Amino acid sequence: MNARPPSARRGVRLVGTGRCLPEKTLSNAQLERMMDTSDEWIVQRTGIRMRHVVDRDRGESTLGLASEALRRALADASIDPLDLDLLVLATMTSEMMCPPTACRVVHAAGATRAAAFDLNGACSGFVFSLNVAHELVRGGAYRTVAVVGADTLSVHMDYCTAGRGTAILFGDGAGAVILRATDDATKGLLAHSMHTDGTGWMEIYIPYHPTDFPEGTPPDPSRFGHVQMNGSSVFKFAVSTFPQLIQETLDKAGLTADDVDMFVCHQSNRRILDAARARFGLPEDKLYVNIDRVGNTVAASVPMCLDELRRAGRVREGMKVMFVAFGGGLTWGSSLWQL
Ligand code: COA
Repeated sequence: MNARPPSARRGVRLVGTGRCLPEKTLSNAQLERMMDTSDEWIVQRTGIRMRHVVDRDRGESTLGLASEALRRALADASIDPLDLDLLVLATMTSEMMCPPTACRVVHAAGATRAAAFDLNGACSGFVFSLNVAHELVRGGAYRTVAVVGADTLSVHMDYCTAGRGTAILFGDGAGAVILRATDDATKGLLAHSMHTDGTGWMEIYIPYHPTDFPEGTPPDPSRFGHVQMNGSSVFKFAVSTFPQLIQETLDKAGLTADDVDMFVCHQSNRRILDAARARFGLPEDKLYVNIDRVGNTVAASVPMCLDELRRAGRVREGMKVMFVAFGGGLTWGSSLWQL
């Protein structure tokens, strides 16, 4: 904790990033052997060629990926784990209902002074967490905060023809950022936006009990623990929501799309990303795409992109960067930063 007069406005710097992918990969060719699908169909409809998936026999899970991503981000920022004040872990695939996985992540990373909690915002979870963490730093409550997005949705896939509309999309991973208070008040959020529409909850859900199925859907125990998704509804929702969300955020900040150096969007489907890029007339290199290599990694998607971009020198201090995501809930949110 850092006591500060409330009038002293401070900025927030993004000082480090890291990511961790499981070693095991799952290609479209492998999926062809598991279900009635084809590489051509998957690439054409989604842009995905490959995903990484945890090997549960080797004990891999959200905990290990999140812990490693956090270690790498702390090392990137040259920050001792003991200097971390707080971790917000965005995930919808916690190890267990209790304890929050974040508590075990700070323990594993040696960040034993840090408070920690999980935040489940589905695919929007990282962007929601980033906004929350930013306000806790800017408000003066904490000086050094980590935000990690980590998910292992492969565990909840039904790798057979009945589940093919969903199983081809998701992969596993983790990404992390470190935020730190700075006296330079120009750094940090320029605008943000967070939305939910609970009437759309049944578009993406994971049932565990007969009562979890929406009205009109017969309870089916063979679906317990597997993601149920209405792909075409989610697609339509995303194609219209992404551009609205970007415009709303630009308006709040009084900026145009040209003023933003990089758009880091949730990787859900290449066609959804291309539609958003076309709507704003953005050149290809201003809206990052890595879905071909990793698929949809839920809360890990945005921070993994950011880490790739920073390490390639394509996102640097001084730039304006917009993070955008949507997902189950339904939820959607943005975070526009002056780095
Ligand atoms: N391989 C081959 N055929 C498949 C298939 C697969 N993996 N998955 C579905 N199909 C078939 C369907 O059975 C259907 O066949 P039919 O016409 O004989 O019934 C046909 O392809 C079209 O299905 P549809 O679901 O309308 O395809 P689509 O073009 O909408 O693509 C998604 C499906 C899932 C790729 C697409 O809807 C999507 O990406 N939605 C968004 C999902 C998303 O972003 N979720 C995450 C939110 S964070």
